[in-house]
Amino acid sequence: MSSDAFSKLDASCSPPETDNVVCHCLQIRRSEIKTAASMRESATVRCVMKMTDAGTGCTACHSRIRQLLAEYARETKAASPQLEQA
Ligand code: FES
Repeated sequence: MSSDAFSKLDASCSPPETDNVVCHCLQIRRSEIKTAASMRESATVRCVMKMTDAGTGCTACHSRIRQLLAEYARETKAASPQLEQA
């Protein structure tokens, strides 16, 4: 197999960018939670619950929502470092 074939095979084995379901009870996806997080500064799980209904069932997804909010906060902080200095 040529090295080009290996690189194509390697690329096809990469995990696709997925929009996973975070809240299985309400079928709320990662992108919906990130959109909700982007609408409020310092969004909390409670904010996400009000905005998307995620987490209003069994509550098992609260830790995943919290993790996504932290991830989103890190991403936005990294994308706008000048706000940190103000
Ligand atoms: S998994 Fe989100 S409320 Fe049950």
